[in-house]
Amino acid sequence: MSVNQVQPKVIIHGGAGSALKSQEGADAVRKSLYKVVEEVYTLLLAGATAQAAVVHGCHLMEDDPRFNAGTGSVLQSDGQIRMSASLMDGTTQRLSGVINVSRVQHPIDLAQALQASPDRVLSDYGSAELVRELQVPIYNPMIEIRLQEWLQERSENFIKEAAGVVAEKELVDDPEAGRGTIGVVVLDTQGNLAAGTSTGGKGFERIGRVSDSAMPAGNYATAEAAISCTGIGEDIIDECLAARIVVRVTDGLSLADAFERSFTEARGRQRDFGAIGIDATGAIAFGKTSEVLLAAFHTGEQMGDTLEWTGDTLSGFIS
Ligand code: GLY
Repeated sequence: MSVNQVQPKVIIHGGAGSALKSQEGADAVRKSLYKVVEEVYTLLLAGATAQAAVVHGCHLMEDDPRFNAGTGSVLQSDGQIRMSASLMDGTTQRLSGVINVSRVQHPIDLAQALQASPDRVLSDYGSAELVRELQVPIYNPMIEIRLQEWLQERSENFIKEAAGVVAEKELVDDPEAGRGTIGVVVLDTQGNLAAGTSTGGKGFERIGRVSDSAMPAGNYATAEAAISCTGIGEDIIDECLAARIVVRVTDGLSLADAFERSFTEARGRQRDFGAIGIDATGAIAFGKTSEVLLAAFHTGEQMGDTLEWTGDTLSGFIS
């Protein structure tokens, strides 16, 4: 890194929800998260743009069946996988995304392809058309644990509001493990911010239900701050969480105060979610109203995570 370059920063999440069941499960999730954080950080040090680093991090997490995005996505009520993803570049302040796309390996690639398009957020039919236009190979993201989870739910006539989202162990069904999505937020060596979010949705939802992940409520970035959210999409939309935090930073609050205020309000309204963020100074923050937030970060000096953070505090801050 040369003297006029900025220290790069990374924070990622792999969902939020109920506490992980075992130390073994937490260790496995931590290992997955740290691998991604390290790789994205190395890429940023080598000079990758914020947008490229976010897309790469999302690829890695979409490919990890442990997380509810890409391979390993949860099934909707009709037994189909429909995924949503968005990318927001803080420098251009431009969001692009796809909603309820099927049979692709990396929904975030479609979001990136739409960055330069005049039509930047496409729903199911439009996304399928884009997949065909870009000649993206057909891919089946279904894994056995998710199919079994859906079959179990079908036999119980769909009493759960959402699927378990983080597979703590390979092929071990733990439906209470959590719920969420994946997200990557970075600051690159040029001082540019970007955020990306990708999800299989809540699981067992009605056909046509729209996730927060391809909306500014769930994924938002400007030159001042970048945020990715996870948890119950309806709660995230009702708080307009990502944009709410960024606007507070733009209006003069520190990132830490913007998180604390937003999560205090959210707890008062019994919301169930988490968020991660970075601001233009390189400050890193995370918050949750859920029991657990599966996030990990790299400050340039150290890596850390939020897996054991189960207390009553609503937000955390790394300067
Ligand atoms: N936050 C992901 C979803 O609710 O779809």
